[in-house]
Amino acid sequence: MISIIVAIAQNGTIGDKNALLWHIKEDMRFFRTTTSGHAVVMGRKTFDSLGSKPLPKRKNIVITRSDREFEGAFAAHSLEEAVRMAEGDEEIFIIGGAQIYREALAIADRMYITRVERDYEGDTVFPEIDYNHWKLTDEERHERGEEYEWPFAFLTYDRVR
Ligand SMILES: NC(=O)c1ccc[n+]([C@@H]2O[C@H](COP(=O)([O-])OP(=O)(O)OC[C@H]3O[C@@H](n4cnc5c(N)ncnc54)[C@H](OP(=O)(O)O)[C@@H]3O)[C@@H](O)[C@H]2O)c1
Repeated sequence: MISIIVAIAQNGTIGDKNALLWHIKEDMRFFRTTTSGHAVVMGRKTFDSLGSKPLPKRKNIVITRSDREFEGAFAAHSLEEAVRMAEGDEEIFIIGGAQIYREALAIADRMYITRVERDYEGDTVFPEIDYNHWKLTDEERHERGEEYEWPFAFLTYDRVR
């Protein structure tokens, strides 16, 4: 199974200047526990936004058009190649950014979306989702976080077959 995992602001933004726009402890924890032990596939810019270091306890696969090598991560030159490299994992996570999500939307079986219920100004937006192809299968809303003061929700969408 191929899953997208992403946090999206109300106005669609997911990042700015190669960084995230918010810090929500609960979302970081959700991301870590959901993806741990699995393959994570990301674009080169997202890898660099993480300090050019691999996420621990996960097989890290970085997509690039260059011949750059990545310490602690495998290099792939297309989404298809990345997915092939992750074969054998029962759930492969596409962790961004926008360029990689755009391609992955066509092949993903599931999306874990953290809906951040505020607008944020940013230079990177999630591609448009055609909700005719997706069914909401789980929803957990939080009025606020432990430190983050505004509402957010963990949503799971499965592809309608
Ligand atoms: N909110 C969230 O959940 C979330 C999650 C992840 C990232 N983000 C944010 O998203 C932003 C980064 O996203 P982004 O769209 O700018 O970049 P990205 O998707 O992370 O990476 C883009 C890079 O991936 C490579 N690439 C893309 N398509 C390719 C293809 N078809 N074949 C081979 N290589 C390909 C290229 O690398 P080369 O240039 O090396 O060739 C390209 O420059 C940051 O602000 C980050 O913080 C947010």
